[in-house]
Amino acid sequence: MNEQIEKFFSELEQSIKKHSFLKLTISNNKGENKSLQKILVRLIETKKGLRMFFLYRYETRDVAKNFDVQESLKIIRDLLGKSFFSAHLFTLEHDYHLDIGKKGRARLNLGKPSFKTKPSLSHNKEKPAFVNPKVFYLKALGITAENGEIKEKQQDKWKQINKFIEIVASFFDKSELKNRQKLRIVDMGSGKGYLTFSVYDYFKTVRGVDVEVIGVEARSDMAELCNSIAKAAEFENLSFVQGLISDYNLTQTDILIALHACDTATDDAIFKAIKANAEIIFVAPCCHKEIRPQISPPDYLKDLLKHGILLEKTAETLTDGLRALLLEKEGYKTKVFEFISPEHTPKNNMIVAVKKHKATNTDQIIKKIQSIKQLYGISKQRLEELINSAENTAF
Ligand SMILES: C[S@@+](CC[C@H](N)C(=O)[O-])C[C@H]1O[C@@H](n2cnc3c(N)ncnc32)[C@H](O)[C@@H]1O
Repeated sequence: MNEQIEKFFSELEQSIKKHSFLKLTISNNKGENKSLQKILVRLIETKKGLRMFFLYRYETRDVAKNFDVQESLKIIRDLLGKSFFSAHLFTLEHDYHLDIGKKGRARLNLGKPSFKTKPSLSHNKEKPAFVNPKVFYLKALGITAENGEIKEKQQDKWKQINKFIEIVASFFDKSELKNRQKLRIVDMGSGKGYLTFSVYDYFKTVRGVDVEVIGVEARSDMAELCNSIAKAAEFENLSFVQGLISDYNLTQTDILIALHACDTATDDAIFKAIKANAEIIFVAPCCHKEIRPQISPPDYLKDLLKHGILLEKTAETLTDGLRALLLEKEGYKTKVFEFISPEHTPKNNMIVAVKKHKATNTDQIIKKIQSIKQLYGISKQRLEELINSAENTAF
């Protein structure tokens, strides 16, 4: 190999050994996959020890991978002079710029260091966005402007998208699904598809999972728009179906999502998920119209609930509390929490249910549900009705 290239590799290895390595940028791709524009490499400290973090920057997406240092050096050697012909090494002592020309002739330039301080090796210190803002679909969906910046008025949506993917990733990693290489996810009431696209992109691009994602949406204009963007983004296994949640024939599904589906559409989605044997269910209920007019509290609570706002909040608590109990009765472990600060959206309660794979004392839960309904004078709750009628027809 050319002397200059060898010198570059020696400086690279030395800088890692001497802890003066800052980052490496590999560019000028002349290989077959032209959409891969550059590769950014930095060091990170992980549970497995010191590793090199590679961010493969494609035209429309980023792919992140990390490898141990020896493997990384081999990968870099395999890239330079074969498909990539330029590299910029930043160390605390110098910047090195390697340019490889025709016939493997190379030039190595040495410059003053651009950076004088070392970045943190922690992967999580500055919380990275879970979704790459530069991806094509965010522009097509109107979240980012032409220059790839998040539009001012879409900042709340952007925060919601990232928080949502963070939550999904965290529950996924603690679930039975964590090592699965093939996944089926259905997003019910997918609307404009922000979450549907992001969840597909996250599992497909960042996690490298063979994922199929389906959005179910009542509005045909939304489903059509999302299908056309999915096609343009070349997201082959992402599709949108126009139709009602209650009519959708949901078969075996690993993860079900239903965020802000109106009123009892959330119950329809939860019911379908239980029947489809979903391992994880994420729902963020929207309005709680079914329970509110039914509430007729005992005399000792009447003065508390004479205020409209408190009655509203009670309806919300009762609806989501009952949904969580019903999910527990169906063999799930549940968590109810505020998924994003109310300053970003008032509809911010989230129920997450994860299959327990253990026996459940259903009688005890049924008793709890009945006594809560009795106390507040509630005669019907959609999810309970759906579950009961399915149980009755099974016998
Ligand atoms: C408030 S949007 C939320 C969209 C998306 N889930 C999100 O959180 O960004 C609710 C969407 O659910 C759809 N929707 C409401 N009820 C539905 C139903 N029963 N079946 C299918 N879609 C429904 C609406 O058309 C709307 O697009």
